[in-house]
Amino acid sequence: MKTIIEPFRIKSVEPIRMTTRAERLECLRDAGYNVFLLRAQDVLIDLLTDSGTSAMSAEQWAAIMRGDEAYAGSPSFYRLEARVKELFGFKHLIPTHQGRAAERILFSTVCRPGDVVPNNTHFDTTRANVEAVGAKAVDLPVPESQRRQDPLPFKGNMDVGALRGLIAEVGVERIPICMITITNNSGGGQPVSLANVREVSAVCHEHGIPFYIDACRFAENAYLIKLNEAGQSERSVEEIAREVFSYADGCTFSAKKDGLANIGGFVATNDDRLAEQERELLILTEGFPTYGGLAGRDLEAIAVGLQEVVHEDYLHYRLASVRYLGDHLTAAGVPIVQPPGGHAVYLDAAAFLPHVPPLELPGQSLAAELYLEGGVRGVEIGTVMFGRRDPETGEDLPGPMELVRLAIPRRVYTQSHVDYVVEVITDVYHRRESIGGFRMTRQAEVLRHFTAWFEPLYAFGT
Ligand code: F0G
Repeated sequence: MKTIIEPFRIKSVEPIRMTTRAERLECLRDAGYNVFLLRAQDVLIDLLTDSGTSAMSAEQWAAIMRGDEAYAGSPSFYRLEARVKELFGFKHLIPTHQGRAAERILFSTVCRPGDVVPNNTHFDTTRANVEAVGAKAVDLPVPESQRRQDPLPFKGNMDVGALRGLIAEVGVERIPICMITITNNSGGGQPVSLANVREVSAVCHEHGIPFYIDACRFAENAYLIKLNEAGQSERSVEEIAREVFSYADGCTFSAKKDGLANIGGFVATNDDRLAEQERELLILTEGFPTYGGLAGRDLEAIAVGLQEVVHEDYLHYRLASVRYLGDHLTAAGVPIVQPPGGHAVYLDAAAFLPHVPPLELPGQSLAAELYLEGGVRGVEIGTVMFGRRDPETGEDLPGPMELVRLAIPRRVYTQSHVDYVVEVITDVYHRRESIGGFRMTRQAEVLRHFTAWFEPLYAFGT
C-alpha cells in the first residue's frame, strides 16, 4: 500500500509563526491560562476546532464570486436548496448563520418548559439551547462509550433501551423531539451506525416523536459506516448519507464542519407547519428566509462544499490523517479515546494525569501544557466544560469525562504538522509526573469554558 496523500495541492498559503517558550508562558498568563482567550496569531498549530477552519477549494472561491446578494429569492439560495434536497432529502431548508442559530430556532419552536429532549450526547451549544427554553437535555449514550480504550466501531450510538425507558418514565407528551448527533462530538467524535439511526427512528416514530439529526459531521459519519458496518462497503457515501437522513424528520446543520465552509448552517424539516413557524422566527433574528443570517456568497460556498465533502478520495485522506495522529500517539504510549474519531483525537486527560483529581481540572492542565510546550492549541472537554456548580450547595461537581480534544481542520495541515504535534504531546507525556492541577478564579453562569480564568496549583512553566 502506498502512502495516503493529501488529495490536493496548495494554491495559497498562510504563514504561521513560531514563538518562544517564554513568550508562550506570558501569553498564557495574559489569557488567564484559558486557551480560548489566546490570540490566534500566537498559536502555531491550532487544533481548537474543526469548525469554520476548513480551507476552501478553488471551486468554492469561484462560487463565492457567483454569489448573488439579492435580499429575496437569490439564485444562490436555490442552488443550495437543490443540493440539500438531493443529499439530505428534507422538504424545507431554513438557512442560519451557524449551527447554534438552527438549534435555537428549532428548540424554541418545538419545546416548552418542563419538556425533555434525548440525544446520544448533546453538544454544549445544543444542551444550552435546550435548557434556554426551560427543557431538560438528556444524554443517552451506549454504555460502550465509557470504555475509552476499547476500539469498538460505533461508540457514538444511542442506547435504545435507555430511550425506551425514558419515554416510559416521562411520557411521550413531554418529549417533543428526539435527536441524534453524528458523529457524536462530545462523546469522543465516535460515529453512529446506520442500524442505530434506523432503530432510534423506529422507536421515536412508534411513539409519534419527531426524530431529528444534528448533522454537523454527516459525511465523516457516513464514511465510517462504509468502512466499518457490515454490508455497507460497496455503497457510495452519498447513498449512505441519504439513507441516514431518510429516517429523520429533519436536521440541524453547522456548515462550518462538513459543509467545508467558514460560516453557515441550516435547519431542515419535512413538517410544513413547523417550517412556517421557524421562518417567522428566522425573519425576526436571522434574516429573510432565502438567506438566513448569511450572504449569498456563503450559500454558494456551502452548496459546493456539500458536493466536495462526499468525495471518497477526500474522506479517505481525511479519516486517514486523523487516524495517523491517533496511531502515532498510541504508539508513544499516550492514552487517547479509541478509536480516533472522525474529526479529532481525544487525549484521555484522566489517564494522562492520573494524579490530578477531576476538580483540579486535569484537561485544563494538559491544554495549557500543550500550548506551552509547542504552541499547539486543543480544547478541554471535561470538568471545565461540563462540570457544574450545584446551585443549592455551591459545591463544584466534576464532568462525566476528562478529555482534551485535538480537532483537525479540514484540508489545512500537512503530515509534517501532524508529526510535530505528536512530538509536542510526547514530550509533555514524558514529563507528566511534574504536572499538577488548576483552579478556576472566574467563571460565567453558562458555557463557562469560553471565558473562565484559571490559576495553576503547581509551578507551571518552570
Ligand atoms: N452540534 C455539534 C455536534 C457541534 O459540534 C457544533 C459545533 C454545533 C452543533 C454548533 O454549531 O458552532 O456552527 O454554532 N461545534 C464546534 C466544535 C464549535 O468545536 O466542536 P455552530
